[in-house]
Amino acid sequence: MSIAPPNVELKPGTIQFLESGPKKLLLGGEWLDSADGAVFESINPANGKGLVQVAAASSADVDRAVQAARGAFENASWNRMSGADRGNLLWKIADLIERYTDELSELETLDNGKPLRVSSRVDVPQAAKHFRYYAGWASKIEGSTIPVSFPNQLVYTVREPMGVVGLIIPWNFPLLMAAWKLAPALACGNTVILKPAEQTPLTAIRLGEILIEAGVPAGVVNILTGYGVPTGAAITAHPGIDKVAFTGSTEVGRKIMSAAAGSNLKRVSLELGGKSPNVVFADADMSRAIRGATWAVFSNTGQECVAGTRLFVERPVYDQVLEGLAADSQKIRIGNGFSGAHLGPVVSEEQLERILGYIASGKSGGAEVVTGGERLGGELADGYFLPPTVFAHHDDSLQVVQEEIFGPVVAVSAFDDWDELVARANATQYGLAAGVWTRDISRAHRFAAAVKAGTVWVNQYGLIDAAAPFGGYKESGFGREMGKDAIELYTQVKTVWVNLG
Ligand code: NAI
Ligand code: MG
Repeated sequence: MSIAPPNVELKPGTIQFLESGPKKLLLGGEWLDSADGAVFESINPANGKGLVQVAAASSADVDRAVQAARGAFENASWNRMSGADRGNLLWKIADLIERYTDELSELETLDNGKPLRVSSRVDVPQAAKHFRYYAGWASKIEGSTIPVSFPNQLVYTVREPMGVVGLIIPWNFPLLMAAWKLAPALACGNTVILKPAEQTPLTAIRLGEILIEAGVPAGVVNILTGYGVPTGAAITAHPGIDKVAFTGSTEVGRKIMSAAAGSNLKRVSLELGGKSPNVVFADADMSRAIRGATWAVFSNTGQECVAGTRLFVERPVYDQVLEGLAADSQKIRIGNGFSGAHLGPVVSEEQLERILGYIASGKSGGAEVVTGGERLGGELADGYFLPPTVFAHHDDSLQVVQEEIFGPVVAVSAFDDWDELVARANATQYGLAAGVWTRDISRAHRFAAAVKAGTVWVNQYGLIDAAAPFGGYKESGFGREMGKDAIELYTQVKTVWVNLG
């Protein structure tokens, strides 16, 4: 069929999904058109062509979703379900995600552009892993007994779900981000309204079908496709929603906080942007460090919140690292996600223009383009393709050094001493992640202690796991997803005082 590149045969399930469009909203267990009938088209970023029409939810649909989610939250089939049974349900969702790996991966690659081998080996299996990890937690959400200063008292705590939770996610890891939030939210007994990004709604919709197949009760998960405004904004302002969990830009994170403050003081957790420092010391294993620094930033075409976009290299090895990085970057094959390429396009024309704007500003600010920097043409001209772009610079105040670009662009500079390095590494509004490459174990730990970031990688970059807490310092957000910490994100504590006298 025409939506796949020549020589690619999509799985029958993928074709069936796309041909049975337009896609609808999941509301109270049914697939429904938006209240005003609005739709938008999801675009394949590899060729700029439309894939399928998708319902665009209005604020009336948010009202409908809140009603469905509130009803399901109060309904015995959900709120009396034991943790063990919720765990079974999550485990079953993971089984089904694995069963449908092929079509979920193809949909992700069509909608987001990323290579099929990444969708099928990273995004989809990791999504399943999140459901399995939180399947285990569902039966282990405990309170405690508290010895207090008064006599004859039994004081205990229980952890209860928040209620109705809005989950607003971005487009860089569409299915995986849905899993990051859905799995712990459901493990804790909440009901949810999920809003995928308008650029990449397809795997969330397919996941909705999977949730129904797994037996998730009607109304427990509602899925509203649509734009940031009105759909996302209506979720964040709605007084019937108890909490919003968001991943996306710092700019929208601020809007979400003020909408929450201006409505019902809903709880908010934010996983926002980054401008993460990645540091190579002269004593590092050079080939590993160079390869690691390359993938730290270019993985997922640079569209990663943790991307190691500020590369600091100790002066004696600066030329060697810069040359190695440029050489490795030039070896990366860019192309359609079905072609065996290492990297796909960026997600949208808007994102491409934003990145090109940053590249232009880097050039005019005096940074040197070592490699890349121009949109790719030829047979890739219809898609949004950019090569890995390496800037060498001496000026940390440049926009390309300070702002999150969210594309395949790295800013490289040299450093001379420890104090300078620490000050410069921390001289950013962000604090999501950091990396350090050195054979000196004490120095690695000293850097981990000194850097203001929620995650630090030593002699590697970018690993994330369902069991390990993840989130930001500073304007990279707050709240920790994954691990036990996410249980705290989706529950509230009730303290019960019993008079034993
Ligand atoms: P965005 O922050 O606008 O979009 C993320 C999600 O928020 C989407 O689902 C969007 O529909 C929703 N949204 C947008 N405006 C909203 C509003 N007023 N209220 C509620 N929800 C809203 O990100 P966008 O525009 O796609 O990308 C812009 C920049 O954001 C990127 O260049 C990148 O720097 C950053 N970004 C960071 C991500 C991360 O993982 N930290 C992910 C995506 C983008
Ligand atoms: Mg936006």
